[in-house]
Amino acid sequence: MEFLQQRTEIDYESTADGLTSPQLIERARGKRVIISQFTDPLPREVITQLKGLGMIAHVGVGFDNIDLQAATEHGILVSNTPGILNDTTADFAFALLMAAARRVVEADAFVRSGQWKKWSLDMLAGMDIHHRTLGIIGMGRIGQEMARRGRGFSMRVLYNNRTRLSAEKEQELNAAWVSKEQLLREADYVSLHCPLNDATRHLIKEEDFRLMKPTAIFVNTARGPVVDEAALVKALEERWIAGAGLDVFEREPTVHEGLLKCERAVLAPHISSSSVETRTKMTVMAAENALAAVAGTCPPNLLNPAVWDSWAFRPAAAG
Ligand code: DGY
Repeated sequence: MEFLQQRTEIDYESTADGLTSPQLIERARGKRVIISQFTDPLPREVITQLKGLGMIAHVGVGFDNIDLQAATEHGILVSNTPGILNDTTADFAFALLMAAARRVVEADAFVRSGQWKKWSLDMLAGMDIHHRTLGIIGMGRIGQEMARRGRGFSMRVLYNNRTRLSAEKEQELNAAWVSKEQLLREADYVSLHCPLNDATRHLIKEEDFRLMKPTAIFVNTARGPVVDEAALVKALEERWIAGAGLDVFEREPTVHEGLLKCERAVLAPHISSSSVETRTKMTVMAAENALAAVAGTCPPNLLNPAVWDSWAFRPAAAG
C-alpha cells in the first residue's frame, strides 16, 4: 500500500472480507485499475458492468477467478504475477509431500497430546521419499521446479502435460513424459501443477484415484476444482490411496468433512506461495503492472497484450 500510495491515488480498505459483486462494481466506478486476488470473482456478468475500467492487475499466477475473454472483449487489460512464485510454491508442495509421507503432523499431535510414553521401532513409521517415483501433472514453471526437487531426492520423475517438453528440457529435469494413466499407475507421489480451466476441471476423478497405488500420496497445490473432492475423500476412506497433502479445495474456505476427519490428509489454507519474500514480490509486481498502465506504458505481465494496441486510456505517443 505504501508503495502505491507514494506513486498514485488509491482507494483501499484494510479488511480480510472481500467485496460482494455489487459492492465491487460500485467501488470500481471511476477507477482506472483494480488490483484483485483470487478471492475476488470477476466473471463476465461483473466484468460487463465495470464501465470505464481500464485494467485488472491480479496478484497471483492463477487467474481462474477472472473471465479473461470477457475482459479482452471489453478492452480491459489483465495482468498476473508469473515466475516469482515458482520456487516457493514447489517448496510447499514438496513440504506437503514430505509431511504426508513421514507423518509429520500426526507425530506433532502425538507428542503434544502426551501419547509418547515409550519409543518403539515402528512408531509412526512413514514412507520413503528418496528413490521413489514422483508423478507431476502439469509441467509448467511450478511443475518443473517440483521436478528439480524430486531429482534432489534421487526420485524417478514422470510427468504428464498437454504439450511435451523439449528433449533437452526433459534431460535437464531428468523427467519422462508418460500418459496420465501410466503416471497414476506408477507414481508413489502424484503432484498437481496445472491451471484451472474448462479442460482441467475435475481432471482427477474417481476412475483416476482407482488407478493409483494403495501406497500412493496425492498432493494438490494447484486449484481445488481440478480434483473431484468427493472422489478424493472416497479414495482416502476406502484406502485406494495412502494419503494426501492439500493446499487447495473445491469450495474454499469450506473443506470437505471427510478431509477434516482424515488424519492421513495434511491440510493447509491455500498458502503455497506464502513466504514473506514471495508474497511481497507478488504484490509489488501487481502494483508495478498497475502503475505502468496508469503511467501509459505497457504493463510487463499482460495476459491479453493485444488489448494494449487499442487500449482506450493509452496516450497516443506511448510505447
Ligand atoms: C496463485 O498465485 O495463483 C496463488 O494461488 C495465490 O492466488
